[in-house]
Amino acid sequence: MINPAKKLKGKTVLVTGGAGFIGSHLIDRLLSYGARVICFDDLSTGRQEYIDSKKDDRNFIFIKGDANEMKDIKKAFSHGPVDYVFHYAALVGVQRTIEEPLKVLKDIDGIKHILELALQHKIKKIAYASSSEIYGNQEKMPLHEENSYYDIKMPYALVKSAGENFFRSHWELSGVPVVIYRFFNAYGPRQASSMYGFVTGVFISQVLQNIPPTIFYDGKQTRDFMYIDDNIEASIQGLLNDKTTGETINLGTGRETTILELANKIIKISGKKLKPSLLNKRNLIEIKRRVADTAKMKKIIGYRPRVSLEDGLRRTYDWYANNPQFIAQGERTTYAWRKKNVWAPIKKSSKTKKKS
Ligand SMILES: NC(=O)c1ccc[n+]([C@@H]2O[C@H](COP(=O)([O-])OP(=O)(O)OC[C@H]3O[C@@H](n4cnc5c(N)ncnc54)[C@H](O)[C@@H]3O)[C@@H](O)[C@H]2O)c1
Repeated sequence: MINPAKKLKGKTVLVTGGAGFIGSHLIDRLLSYGARVICFDDLSTGRQEYIDSKKDDRNFIFIKGDANEMKDIKKAFSHGPVDYVFHYAALVGVQRTIEEPLKVLKDIDGIKHILELALQHKIKKIAYASSSEIYGNQEKMPLHEENSYYDIKMPYALVKSAGENFFRSHWELSGVPVVIYRFFNAYGPRQASSMYGFVTGVFISQVLQNIPPTIFYDGKQTRDFMYIDDNIEASIQGLLNDKTTGETINLGTGRETTILELANKIIKISGKKLKPSLLNKRNLIEIKRRVADTAKMKKIIGYRPRVSLEDGLRRTYDWYANNPQFIAQGERTTYAWRKKNVWAPIKKSSKTKKKS
């Protein structure tokens, strides 16, 4: 394994989306390795509180701006040479991008700008946050990077797929060194817990408010949950490793967990007498199974996830319990979902499918 402190000390790293869940953890780690960090964020879903503690660090610069506007993102390159870039800014969350399908397309501008600037400024390497969403609904598990069948319906996944292609072609045609990460469900402290967030944060905030975790469909749908520390460490190792250049790599654990199991584990940690509430509705775009093939991550990056799901959930639960200001309140975590027309009763699913 690479010693990141050796490679990063004194280097400048730009993190777009640096005030968000993953970006802010990444910045904490980069600063601890002695890097100089430029955090670029429009604070649309990111939070000032996640970067406040760093504002007196002389190695930290915050620039507020929109990555999709060239005049803004250019400013991130005006504080001396940038060595590395993590392009993590994006309109995030399935629900948000369903509601604003055209807005998410704007992120393609940001991808083009950052690649153009990376080329101009001869940066050493740029990492792109893609998503397991680009696999769509597939039968064969685990999901392997080379699997070329994509059944993509969501605008978010379409943009990520376009982003991957732009990144790959810039490496092949212009020689900009890139690495593409397909994140599976990253989770941990600071993840959004509202209906626009991700399932782990939503369930924990429900349980902390004595609301039974609300499960759509039958709870047998599966995901691959990777604790934030593992996601960050693997991404930094991957950035600094020459063997990853031009590669697309799954960042997951290879552990398949049903949503029902996840809810029960969180309830167990809480010690409360709650039962998950099965809503018997299916999301029209619900993905049935998802688990990463991690062979490439282990072989090329040399990284093996260290945090068990139980440990990671416990740490995340404790963080929310100690930081109640970040818990989405009551209705926002549950009932609002039911009003959205992307949900349909399970029985009607086959009819609905035929219609579409
Ligand atoms: N969390 C996951 O499990 C997961 C899974 C797959 C992919 N990803 C990807 O990882 C990245 C980080 O996601 P996250 O979970 O930390 O979400 P997040 O919403 O917490 O972080 C995204 C950050 O980007 C910022 N941002 C959004 N649009 C911007 C723009 N146009 N200009 C500048 N800043 C902008 C937001 O304010 C926020 O701080 C995203 O690219 C996301 O698509 C995350």
